[in-house]
Amino acid sequence: MTDLFDGLADTGPSRESIADGAVLLRGFAGPIEQELTAAVRDIVARAPFRRMTTPGGYQMSVAMTNCGERGWITDHTGYRYDAIDPRTDLPWPAMPDVFRDLARSAAEQGGYQSFAPDACLINRYEPGTRLSLHQDKDELDLAAPIVSVSLGLPAIFLFGGMKRGDKPVRYRLTHGDVVVWGGPSRLAYHGVAPLAEGEHAALGRQRINLTFRKTR
Ligand code: SIN
Ligand code: FE2
Repeated sequence: MTDLFDGLADTGPSRESIADGAVLLRGFAGPIEQELTAAVRDIVARAPFRRMTTPGGYQMSVAMTNCGERGWITDHTGYRYDAIDPRTDLPWPAMPDVFRDLARSAAEQGGYQSFAPDACLINRYEPGTRLSLHQDKDELDLAAPIVSVSLGLPAIFLFGGMKRGDKPVRYRLTHGDVVVWGGPSRLAYHGVAPLAEGEHAALGRQRINLTFRKTR
């Protein structure tokens, strides 16, 4: 853990339980927003955002890239993690320490010790972009939680149950908010409602989401 989080520990971070095994940490990433956005810029310069195609042949409205040992990709053959960016034929950019430390300390706040993500999916939403309800289940290690960091424009995050048909609860996530889910919530359905029009002071007309996972 870096010194950057010491202040938060002193004041006691805001921790809202949203389901069994799931917490919403409001503003948790706020103190390091500049380091995070600089790191995102650096990654995107080397592994650009792209809209991938689902196995069913649809182009996703969310634009994605990755950093870390492995990146999540989808194409006509299916969903998977791969060490190589198919766009550049190079390994994904390394996961910055500031990402790793943030993910670990957020997971700790959620009750998950020693979270060591090997993948960070970076999602870019523009107004109108949505992500339909899904489970994160391409990872081999379901004992590790998912840590999800919101930057930029606010979004309505949908957090449902174990069945696609379970009615999701809506949470408004803003710049710096972090959601952690694992244990009994690890396979909860979740998604993002169409992003509303807006302009964020630091990030402009977009929302960036970092999703940390331990894939194996
Ligand atoms: C995801 O489920 O991969 C992203 C969720 C989000 O953008 O908040
Ligand atoms: Fe997801």
